Amino acid sequence: MTDTDHSLLRATEIIRRAKAEKAQRPSIAGFFDEATNTVTYVVHDPATCEAAIIDSVLDFQAASGRTSNGSADLVVEYVRKHDLTVTWILETHAHADHISAAPYLQERLGGKLGIGRDIIRVQEVFGKLFNAGTDFERDGSQFDQLFDDGDCISIGSIEGIALHVPGHTPADMAFIFGDAAFVGDTVFMPDFGTARADFPGGDAGELYRSIRRLLSLPNETRLFLCHDYKAPGRDEYAWETTVKQQREENVHVRDGVTEEEFVAMRTGRDKELPMPKLIMPSVQVNIRGGRLPEPEENGVSYIKIPVNAV
Ligand SMILES: [Fe+2]
Repeated sequence: MTDTDHSLLRATEIIRRAKAEKAQRPSIAGFFDEATNTVTYVVHDPATCEAAIIDSVLDFQAASGRTSNGSADLVVEYVRKHDLTVTWILETHAHADHISAAPYLQERLGGKLGIGRDIIRVQEVFGKLFNAGTDFERDGSQFDQLFDDGDCISIGSIEGIALHVPGHTPADMAFIFGDAAFVGDTVFMPDFGTARADFPGGDAGELYRSIRRLLSLPNETRLFLCHDYKAPGRDEYAWETTVKQQREENVHVRDGVTEEEFVAMRTGRDKELPMPKLIMPSVQVNIRGGRLPEPEENGVSYIKIPVNAV
């Protein structure tokens, strides 16, 4: 964070304005995928019916290698039922635990596909790991828009901004529309804590700074999370919270926890976590904007698993 964080000031203005003017507050629907604990959001402007879809899920059976569209079709159904025009399909980052349904949704609903500019760094790392050929472009060209910190983004008449919040991966973005912030894999519910920071290019200190930056937004900012795993003593899934609640209650990063304390906790915990079940298929597909690797000459796409390389 620089001395004057202009993006954060702008984000604060947008949130304050939305609190004062109802027309600047988006309608939000969350779709929870129990197989991957992921929440997909459809965010729309009630005045113009323009919408963004954030972090979609393509169903994937790892054992049989079959994809299906049940989760994505719920989103399509909702968009059609409410007569929404999709202007954006957004990824908060290249997910390692589920495959994105962005191409499937884009084909049916339109909209521009956007992700953080540093996806290029992620493509570099995983392009090497999977020994992808030169046909795999490492320039983000699989996406329609690459966002930088502070870029404006709107849905209809609702103002928004993109914030770069690296740490979980180098490319993580948070998207703010009106008074709602979609924070991807940074914080989770206050009783669960935070995202892991041990993937290639991840960094616990950077994650701490990104989270504390988000938590310096106005207290009443609504935060929408990318995942939920329940937590000891809680039987229901939940994915919405506020800056105030996180600052008071987050078990990893509430006010008073120092960067040093966080980094020690996070790195210790990450050592014990298994790799996500779908990391190999997810990463290979998501760095291609949700498209499967080019089919081989028999017309079939293959997902690789690097042996003894990770
Ligand atoms: Fe993630």
